[in-house]
Order: sequence, then C-alpha cells, then structure tokens
Amino acid sequence: MTLKNKKILIIIGGGIAAYKSLDLIRLLKKNDVEIKTILTKSGKQFVTPLSITTLTKSKTFEHIFNSGKELEIDHIALSRWADIILVMPTTANFMSKLSLGKAEDLATTVLLAADKDIILVPAMNVRMWLHKATQSNLKILQDFGYFFIGPEKGEMACGEFGEGKMSSPRQVFTYLKNYFDKKNIVKERNFKALVTAGPTREYIDPIRYISNESSGKQGYEIARALSKLGIKTTLITGPAKLAIPKGVTVKKIVSADEMLNEVKKTLPVDLAVCTAAVSDFKPSEKSRNKIKKDKSNFKTINFIKNNDILDFLAKNNANRPQIVAGFSAETKSVITNSTQKMKNKNCDLIFANDVSKKGIGFNSDFNKVSMIDQKGNIKIIPKNRKSFIANKIAQILLSKLINDRYIN
Ligand SMILES: Cc1cc2nc3c(=O)[nH]c(=O)nc-3n(C[C@H](O)[C@H](O)[C@H](O)COP(=O)(O)O)c2cc1C
Repeated sequence: MTLKNKKILIIIGGGIAAYKSLDLIRLLKKNDVEIKTILTKSGKQFVTPLSITTLTKSKTFEHIFNSGKELEIDHIALSRWADIILVMPTTANFMSKLSLGKAEDLATTVLLAADKDIILVPAMNVRMWLHKATQSNLKILQDFGYFFIGPEKGEMACGEFGEGKMSSPRQVFTYLKNYFDKKNIVKERNFKALVTAGPTREYIDPIRYISNESSGKQGYEIARALSKLGIKTTLITGPAKLAIPKGVTVKKIVSADEMLNEVKKTLPVDLAVCTAAVSDFKPSEKSRNKIKKDKSNFKTINFIKNNDILDFLAKNNANRPQIVAGFSAETKSVITNSTQKMKNKNCDLIFANDVSKKGIGFNSDFNKVSMIDQKGNIKIIPKNRKSFIANKIAQILLSKLINDRYIN
C-alpha cells in the first residue's frame, strides 16, 4: 500500500470548500497516512481546529509566533517533516500571496521554506478563477514549480457554473496515490535518463565556428524536471549560459562529435531526450592556425555531415533506451516534417516546435510543442513557460516508461 505511513502536510485555506478537506483527511487516515495540518486565519472561519484535530489525532497549527509560549514546531521543521504538501482549498488570495513569495503567516512561510513538492487545489468562483490576475498568478506559480489539481468545471457553492470548482476529495486522493505509486516505481526500477541540450560548435579554425541560436533552456528544464521526479539524469550540453540544474549530472561538450561520444559513454539509460540543436554539418577540415585575411588564404569551406545522435540512439539495437524522444525545430510544415523525422529516425516520440513563431522556441523562455507518437497521435502542449512545458513532458515520459495511462 503506497500511501501507508506517508507524511502529508495539509494547509487549509479560507474558502467555502474547506469542509471538503476534512473528507480527504478521513480518506487518507483510513489508508494509514500521517497528517499534520495548518489552518489559515480565514480557513478558521470555515472549519474549526477541533474538527480537524479529531480526525487527524494531531494538533492543528495556526500561528507562526506562539505568543510567549514555547515554540512547538517551526516552519522549517513542518516542511521537512512532510513527504508532500497540499493546499486545499487554495483560494485566489492565497495564490496571489504565493506568487509574490510572501511569508506573512505560518502557511506562507512554510511554503516558502519548503523543500518538497507542493500541490495546490484551487477553489473559487469562476470569475475569480478566470480573472487576469489569477490566471497570471497561475502561470507564475506553475513556473515556480507548484503542481495543480483542478479546478474543475461545475456548479459552485455560489450557484454559478464554470471553472473554479474544487476537485473532489476522491480525485485528490487518486492524485496522491498515483504520485506516491510513481515515486515508488522510479525508486525500485532506478530509472536513468540522458538529455542533450544546447547548440554545438563546429570550428573552422581555433577561433571561428558555425553554430546556431539554441539556448539550451528547454533541455535544461527537462533535465531538471526528470531529476525532480527521482530519475537519475545526465545532461549532455553544448555551450549554454545557464545554471546547472540541481541533482543533475552535467557533461559539457562543444562539438557534435563530442556530444555523440558522451552519449555513448552515458548509455545504458532507460530514457533519452534529445533537445540539442546538433549541427548537421561540420567543416571537412579545421585549420590549426587562425586563417589570415590576406587573399592568398581565401578559400571555400567544405562541409561534411555530422553523425545523427537521435538516429544513433533510436537505432542502436544493443543499447536502445526504452524510450527515445526527440525535439524537432521546424519553420514550415511543422507536423508533417516532424512526423517524417520521427519515422526516419525510429524514435518513439517527437516534440515539434515551430521556431519561426515569435515569442517561442529558440532563446525564448516560452515554448509551444506538439507531441507526436508512432501511432500518429498528436497532443498539443499550449504556449507556456519552458519550465512548465518541461514538467508536463517529464510526467508524460515517466508515464510512458511505466506504461501508466494516468497522465496529469
Ligand atoms: C462565505 C465566503 C466564502 C468564500 N469562498 C471563497 C472561495 O471559495 N474561494 C476563494 O478564493 N475565496 C473565497 N472567499 C474569500 C476568502 O475567504 C478571502 O479571500 C480570504 O482572505 C482567503 O484567505 P486565505 O488566503 O487564508 O485562503 C470567501 C469568503 C467568504 C466570506
């Protein structure tokens, strides 16, 4: 039983759906989950500490300062205790505070200090949910790495209909069970992944090279997201000006040949994600010295083809990763060309992005990708921050690795 003895910290915010968090607590307690709770000041208007404590059999925390009394537990200890933190219900106000990084009470301070995954379960009136301020906060929070369950469409307590209704305790329970199931499987099967990222440089002489516009952002974010899921991840990166993602093993390379070498050394892995913009060609020869500009040295540069790393990984029968996924940057006929690429190279999935579109793709913090599989299914991940897209992709890839049909 994957939930048994798991430690869940539940923060109960000030919404009408707060009473439903009590149902969730009952469900979790039946499954031998250890629960601690924090009740916000407004949350206390909707449910009482007594009801919560009766169900959890443990104190409900409310205050960051304990007015002269000895500190019973501090904000750091609370977040370190938990395996996961849930905010249910998450109100519009609470989202706004989190998006600003506030630490003004026990709940917000615990979340700012947390080193665990945080799941928000929003509940609010449809107008509040669809308000530009809330939608903008949602994007910020997704970018910060918060996970969301819901909200759903439906009839609300206020009588209106629309998106904003809190997911049911049963839905939240299923999410949590799935979350811990996946964590267990990743740990048991000791999954390994490699991610390639960034551009390569193909030198003409010691100081001149051909390269491309790739920043490496999408690949770095995917490596970060896979590692966060517990997958042992190696990032093989061309020259990029980005911070090394926490927990990821990084191998820095310059040319396509070096990248292929590092890929070979990193095998075997269960999953390979090729996001690098590997140069298709390299100069047939590299001058040992800087080519001088006098006329006698003026010459045509001949190019030869580089080895195709995605193709190598997907056709490598001896050591083929269970899943090989590639990125395809196209400027026209994006889906057709990307599908063709996937078929030619025998990879399992291709993530197509249209790099001709302003505001997404190369160098941008945003992306929009179409995921195409061998059966011809196309799933669009709408425009969002690359970090958000990376989390989605990591979840999908993990689900595929474990043949799980449940994809968030
Ligand atoms: C009867 C009543 C019901 C409310 N329900 C909600 C709700 O469902 N969602 C929401 O975002 N705010 C709701 N509010 C407003 C919040 O209670 C208010 O914004 C509060 O400051 C949120 O506190 P928190 O940040 O601790 O969650 C409600 C207010 C009242 C008076």
